[in-house]
Amino acid sequence: MKAAIITDAGRTPVPGTFDEPQVVAGTELFELVGAGLHQIVRSLAAGRHYGSSGIYPQVPGIDAVVRAADGSLRYTGRIAPPWGTMAERMAAQDGFPVPDDADPLAVAAGVNPAGSGWLPLHAHRDARGSLGTVLILGATGMSGRLAVQSARALGAEHIIAAGRNQAVLRSLRAPDVDVVELDVDDPAGALAEAVAASTPDLVLDYVWGPIAEATFAALGRQGLHEDDAHISYVQIGSLAGAHAAVPSTLLRSRNITISGSGAGSVSAEQQMRSIPAVIDAIASGALQVPYAAFGIDDVEKAWSYDGPERAVVTPGRERPGAHRRRSRAPSRRSRAPSRRSRAPTRRSRAPSRRSRAPSRRLSPRDACRRSRPSALDTPPPAPRRGPAGGGRGEGRGRRPTATRRRRSWVPKRRRPVSRRVRA
Ligand SMILES: NC(=O)c1ccc[n+]([C@@H]2O[C@H](COP(=O)([O-])OP(=O)(O)OC[C@H]3O[C@@H](n4cnc5c(N)ncnc54)[C@H](OP(=O)(O)O)[C@@H]3O)[C@@H](O)[C@H]2O)c1
Repeated sequence: MKAAIITDAGRTPVPGTFDEPQVVAGTELFELVGAGLHQIVRSLAAGRHYGSSGIYPQVPGIDAVVRAADGSLRYTGRIAPPWGTMAERMAAQDGFPVPDDADPLAVAAGVNPAGSGWLPLHAHRDARGSLGTVLILGATGMSGRLAVQSARALGAEHIIAAGRNQAVLRSLRAPDVDVVELDVDDPAGALAEAVAASTPDLVLDYVWGPIAEATFAALGRQGLHEDDAHISYVQIGSLAGAHAAVPSTLLRSRNITISGSGAGSVSAEQQMRSIPAVIDAIASGALQVPYAAFGIDDVEKAWSYDGPERAVVTPGRERPGAHRRRSRAPSRRSRAPSRRSRAPTRRSRAPSRRSRAPSRRLSPRDACRRSRPSALDTPPPAPRRGPAGGGRGEGRGRRPTATRRRRSWVPKRRRPVSRRVRA
């Protein structure tokens, strides 16, 4: 099958031919609709992530929107290496249903980055009854921007969005959002001012390193009086640095809890519980996920894409470009399938033996059935079938395999893209 293939740690993936996935107990065969190129996909593939398999050649990709044999769209992941989701086909667990009126590529682009903020925000609101003030460090990235939207959707009273990119910060400013421009030479100054004006109840940190150290300094307190704040600091990403020194006085002088959110620190069950809500929020337009679609043949371009949209790899040959959509189901007319839809078509996604890509047959190594650990970074799919389940997808009784119908690969209803910009 056609796939994006990484031949060694640190190499850019190339399109090629990879072995068909092995369908083992608990998995079924799905066809790719779109797989997001998240930060974790890059670090896993490069061997830099604690979840990296170290197996090469490999197909990158941790999650995807796929089409099942019965034609339904699912969000799934947790593919056993050396396979990944950036291939025409994958063997995966059943995953979560994707609503018919959702933009499947927005779901593929958005669940991972949106889930990273949604989960701690939701957990904090459950534990405390409200969100209060939320400080987001690295608010200009995809995950940070979606965390701003999630905080608003989940009822935060006040959001402080801190980042470097001035243009993105301007776009985030709103009555409920104060922005803080991080001066890389002196991030503490601006942060101290913002934090003094409104002590955060929850900090979502996507960058760590010197930005975290500056935040610790800003949160520091003088005096022996009791602290009436209760700060929960959640470490999520570390693009600014892998380490940050925590001042001992901060831990003693403030009522602060520092924790992490990722595979290992958050249970698979907690991760799975949040996924349907995130998919729904994307489908409804409560979370806006800009994305840029690239066919597998263009995976090298996708890999080097550094626009503000999330790159999504599709089976077809996509014209690179960015999509932004506004909201769910604006009107019947606009929901009609568009002839110009960039959705994967039957023709573009049919397995091709005459691939235009350098057709290299790269065999996976043998004994490589180790399961890649899920990351919250990887929204793992939940088994959704069976009478005992409690998920949203269970009402959809599935016919026995033999009677399942195959449907067209074109998503049934596609809304027009509200704005397109060139990648
Ligand atoms: N644990 C989880 O569940 C989970 C899930 C999703 C993502 N993550 C992690 O969260 C992080 C952000 O992911 P993303 O999807 O938002 O990536 P992204 O869209 O590429 O955004 C990267 C963000 O990091 C900022 N940044 C990069 N280098 C920086 C530096 N040296 N100093 C300050 N800021 C810096 C960027 O700021 P500019 O805009 O100014 O460039 C931008 O805001 C990654 O580490 C990712 O692995 C974790």
